[in-house]
Amino acid sequence: MTPNLKKKGAAETPAPSRSDTDNSSVAIQCKIDELYYGDFLAVRDSSINIRKNQITAFIGPSGCGKSTVLRCINRMNDLIRSFRFRGELLFHGINIYDSEIDPVAVRRYIGMVFQQPNPFSMSIYDNVAFGLRLNRYKGRLAEKVEQSLKRAGLWDEVKDKLKNNGLSLSGGQQQRLCIARAIATEPSVLLMDEPCSALDPIATRIIEELMLELKDKYTIAIVTHNMQQATRVADETAFFSVDISKGGRTGYLVEFGDTDQIFKAPREELTQKYISGEFS
Ligand SMILES: Nc1ncnc2c1ncn2[C@@H]1O[C@H](COP(=O)(O)OP(=O)(O)OP(=O)(O)O)[C@@H](O)[C@H]1O
Ligand SMILES: [Mg+2]
Repeated sequence: MTPNLKKKGAAETPAPSRSDTDNSSVAIQCKIDELYYGDFLAVRDSSINIRKNQITAFIGPSGCGKSTVLRCINRMNDLIRSFRFRGELLFHGINIYDSEIDPVAVRRYIGMVFQQPNPFSMSIYDNVAFGLRLNRYKGRLAEKVEQSLKRAGLWDEVKDKLKNNGLSLSGGQQQRLCIARAIATEPSVLLMDEPCSALDPIATRIIEELMLELKDKYTIAIVTHNMQQATRVADETAFFSVDISKGGRTGYLVEFGDTDQIFKAPREELTQKYISGEFS
């Protein structure tokens, strides 16, 4: 896949800086050397390769930078004025922070689902059609809306009330509606920041099963506080912690690997302590 991420009017060639390494199974190479909010060093020394059609979980104590790193991946942090970052973020080998790249195009390829379900106050149908209309979708809108709701596992529950307001749904249904909205525009990556933390256990399991189905088609990165959830859904897991040794509170990547390895045979003592609940 060669995503088209350039700003309008940007030269067609040469392509923005590409990695020369063969990483055909990797969708995203995220390398954060230093990430600041103003003068505050929020994250340092964190490199993660996110594999295609896999689920990668970010775990770690509160404030270690999980959401910050996730938001870097689709340039959502650009919306925070004090944000700056030194490192490299390659999406299919293309540096998405290159000056020629259009952040809005990045977000079309790399969608996001938030912690609090956030349907727009409009009909269920219009919620899903929203991004398609924005992108002037040329195909059959109703079919695309139906297909997206089916993929999000919500169709059967809403097919007779598509005109109802999205906010009239239950929390778990609202989150699936947000997933339908995110996948309607066919992104290739879905970023999910604690997508189940506002949901009950049944709705949580439904979303987890959905993630496992969706990974056939999408690459997924998920932040979770729930370690059982990471072991249930994630192929690979990144464990972050907070370094307070220099007086600040800076997040950094402690260990990254197969989920089985991280939870059954962690290489780092700190990982062992975290997964055994010695600190949180
Ligand atoms: N917009 C912002 N402006 C300034 N500092 C921020 C901003 N967002 C996050 N931070 C700081 O960056 C650090 C990492 O925050 P982040 O939200 O990424 O942590 P987290 O691991 O997602 O935590 P949690 O598990 O509580 O959601 C924290 O110290 C936080 O206070
Ligand atoms: Mg967070």
